[in-house]
Amino acid sequence: MSTSAQIGVTGLAVMGRNLARNFARHGYAVALHNRTASRTHELVKEFGHEGDFVPTETPEDFVAALERPRRLMIMVKAGAPTDAVIQEFAPLLEPGDMIIDGGNAHFADTRRREKELREQGIHFVGTGVSGGEEGALHGPSIMPGGSKESYESLGPMLEKIAANAKDGAPCVTHVGPDGAGHFVKMVHNGIEYADMQLIGEAYQLLRDIAGYSPAEIAEIFRTWNTGRLDSYLIEITAEVLSQVDEATGKPFVDVVQDQAEQKGTGRWTVQIALDLGVPVSGIAEAVFARSLSGHTALREASRGLAGPKPAPLDKEEAAAFADRVEQALYASKIVSYTQGFHEIAAGSEEYDWNIDLGRIASIWRGGCIIRAAFLDRIRAAYDARPDLPSLLSDETFAREIGEAQDDWREVLAAATRQGVPTPGFAAALAYYDALRAERLPAALTQAQRDFFGAHTYRRTDRDGSYHTLWGGDRSEVRA
Ligand SMILES: NC(=O)c1ccc[n+]([C@@H]2O[C@H](COP(=O)([O-])OP(=O)(O)OC[C@H]3O[C@@H](n4cnc5c(N)ncnc54)[C@H](OP(=O)(O)O)[C@@H]3O)[C@@H](O)[C@H]2O)c1
Repeated sequence: MSTSAQIGVTGLAVMGRNLARNFARHGYAVALHNRTASRTHELVKEFGHEGDFVPTETPEDFVAALERPRRLMIMVKAGAPTDAVIQEFAPLLEPGDMIIDGGNAHFADTRRREKELREQGIHFVGTGVSGGEEGALHGPSIMPGGSKESYESLGPMLEKIAANAKDGAPCVTHVGPDGAGHFVKMVHNGIEYADMQLIGEAYQLLRDIAGYSPAEIAEIFRTWNTGRLDSYLIEITAEVLSQVDEATGKPFVDVVQDQAEQKGTGRWTVQIALDLGVPVSGIAEAVFARSLSGHTALREASRGLAGPKPAPLDKEEAAAFADRVEQALYASKIVSYTQGFHEIAAGSEEYDWNIDLGRIASIWRGGCIIRAAFLDRIRAAYDARPDLPSLLSDETFAREIGEAQDDWREVLAAATRQGVPTPGFAAALAYYDALRAERLPAALTQAQRDFFGAHTYRRTDRDGSYHTLWGGDRSEVRA
């Protein structure tokens, strides 16, 4: 067995296979391994001509095929299978070697694995990979965590296989220590859920209130894609909406069941945000909207409830309404990115990761599902002011959202009047208004908490904590 491979990939389903091919197409010798050996042989049979592959059948042969320090990439199902594979390979490795986990691991698992392997001198590089099957082959956005030392060895290879942004910069950076890469990938997916939900709401408003057909809406999305909403998700939405179902001749979107599934990273984004105390209401509404869509019995039982049915607008009004929806969509999108970046900043602070938010916006500009022209501007905002408290504190975004707000409110008013559900748009506007508010009803909440639980409150006019003797003479005491 030669020890010539610069990297090895174990787990050769769609993602692993395509990443292995991507490395090979960039001139790297790639050792291959999969629990079921037939996948390894199929890859070589079909794509062996693309580069230098070293197929192996046993973990021992796989490890022996790698040059030192070894770079071993795991692309298997997240969770227990990843632990099983680590347990299988780690005893065969030596200090200085690297295990790169490119699966969708929970960042807490990555922190645990990194710590355990560090004790053996092995670098564990939890790496977010976004872009699906096509991205893995042609250039994904890559979010590696782990030690700086491992990035020095691995980074140049990842930079070769990653997508390039329009300015040519590779969409990969050393995100930060231990679980930072998987954390950022998780938030990426949360933002992706929010983006998709907002696009879905825009579609439904254009369909039910403006009265446009899916093909007409596809054209509207195509136009939007030439402006500030230019993004992969808007582009594919136009493609999907213009698709006609061959079997029925109906718009394709009308023959797809309206129950959205999820694999879990969006849910994790919300769960972790709750733990960190970060309000990601737009992302949460996107997760809940998918969940609600799947409660078919509940929806069936509730379909007859009273409420308005939308009445489509005339042609001229519809065109004006579509412009308003674009404003509402853009403003809500600014809010969901604001919330996502807030979560990354909070995670970075909690775990001491020192994540550069501008770099994150930069590596999401190509390869990944949320790639968008918009991210260039987020990067510029953080580059200009790395300590930006929130994206909404950036002058340009603040101005744009300010300009959009009349239309945003109008769209939500119309949606509410006509009974079209818009949880994402509404949550985004509520967040915006809560941030703007001079006073929040949180004062009343604190007073209630003090009433029933003696939880105390702070006063606006004096320092210290206080409690009112609600059950007694209602005098105030210092707590
Ligand atoms: N699909 C995407 O768009 C996407 C995007 C980004 C990240 N990811 C992540 O990338 C990873 C790979 O995804 P995928 O869709 O290519 O494959 P997958 O369906 O998640 O996993 C299949 C692979 O895992 C292996 N495997 C499962 N259990 C195993 C075990 N106990 N021991 C050893 N190997 C085991 C399978 O081996 P056998 O062939 O022997 O069954 C196969 O190679 C996942 O963590 C996924 O979440 C996926």
